[in-house]
Amino acid sequence: VLPSVLEQRIPITYRYGVHFTRGVLDPGNPLLADVLRGQPAPSRALVVLDGGLLPHRPGLAGHVADYARRHAGSFHLVCPPLLVPGGEAAKNDPELWPRVQAAMDAGGICRHSFVVAIGGGAVLDMAGFAAATAHRGVRLVRLPTTSLAQADSGVGVKCGVNAFGKKNFLGAFAPPWAVLNDLDFLTLLDDRDWRAGLAEAVKVALIKDAAFFAELERDALQLARRDMAAMERAVRRSAALHAAHIASCGDPFEMGSSRPLDFGHWSAHRLEHLSTFRLRHGEAVAIGVALDALYSCRAGLLPRPDCERVLSVLEALGFTLDAPELHENAAEPEHPRSLFRGLTEFREHLGGQLTIMLLRHIGQGEEVHEVELPLYRGTLELLRQRARHRVAA
Ligand SMILES: NC(=O)c1ccc[n+]([C@@H]2O[C@H](COP(=O)([O-])OP(=O)(O)OC[C@H]3O[C@@H](n4cnc5c(N)ncnc54)[C@H](O)[C@@H]3O)[C@@H](O)[C@H]2O)c1
Ligand SMILES: [Zn+2]
Repeated sequence: VLPSVLEQRIPITYRYGVHFTRGVLDPGNPLLADVLRGQPAPSRALVVLDGGLLPHRPGLAGHVADYARRHAGSFHLVCPPLLVPGGEAAKNDPELWPRVQAAMDAGGICRHSFVVAIGGGAVLDMAGFAAATAHRGVRLVRLPTTSLAQADSGVGVKCGVNAFGKKNFLGAFAPPWAVLNDLDFLTLLDDRDWRAGLAEAVKVALIKDAAFFAELERDALQLARRDMAAMERAVRRSAALHAAHIASCGDPFEMGSSRPLDFGHWSAHRLEHLSTFRLRHGEAVAIGVALDALYSCRAGLLPRPDCERVLSVLEALGFTLDAPELHENAAEPEHPRSLFRGLTEFREHLGGQLTIMLLRHIGQGEEVHEVELPLYRGTLELLRQRARHRVAA
């Protein structure tokens, strides 16, 4: 008899380097050229550049072109760097990622060519989506320029844009060709974006690494005062923890319903939308982490002193752990402007059973499949009171 099933098994290994460097576009720094070197050389590259960098580095597009000229034996640019608006606008504009693809098409970018994305997490997500869906996947080299992108989003395997009023509704799992973290970019950030990446560092420390959390606690004031050495430690450790999780969790493309690195994110994604992106992703994550830590405590999981440490470190870093949008329509979970719709959206995004990461201890998460809304509502109120006391004090 002929078999009725052909069992398919397609093992694939991805390898990419997450490099730490300084002066990545200095003509004398060979790293980027080495990463882009074609076989046969030179390769073709399209550079997508975050426009938010230009007020701080007006000559940046020129530096990219100079670098390419100096390393013409390794790669060449198919057109001048494509400037795009920075921030969430890059992911919200439905015409932007097709523009990147139009430039890829015009420049003859193929699967052996490169898209080089230089910018914050939003620009990397948008350019990555354009690259992942052109020719069914073009090589992407990321140069993350924010603390958040260097510590978290830039080192991972996801890309996406927002659609239908939802974060990352369109997207793909597409590991990058390489990631080049240049710490010099971080000196250009404003205080809010400097701080934002630290929320993801606290998040990953809380679910994975109690010693790292203690280090962040120790360094919190230095970090708030923009100490670069402390920031470098935080970014490196956070990037390493995020990358190691993706490589070793057994589910890098999130086939299951669990997403531990999204601790604090069901509410954060929702808050970004409810605040029409007034809150940065990292700022929303700080609130989401505080909310879920306090909820974990009130649900009898997380010891109270641990919970206090979580809230204190976020406050010491300079985060405000409340926002008016948290409290809108809190009594109506399915209201289009209720925070709690975030739970439904979180489940729908992943599929399967609702799975939320809570905290058992500092350094150790615990997944739950049900939450108590009245307890969450009370937790929101406690956060509001705490924030008010801090303002008053
Ligand atoms: N793909 C993933 O796995 C993943 C993970 C976490 C977050 N994200 C996404 O990342 C995005 C947030 O990224 P972000 O926090 O990097 O912020 P961002 O990309 O929104 O950038 C914030 C602002 O900083 C500007 N900017 C960028 N680099 C700068 C620099 N060096 N100096 C001064 N200004 C600079 C940008 O133009 C923008 O105005 C969100 O869309 C979030 O959903 C994705
Ligand atoms: Zn995040």
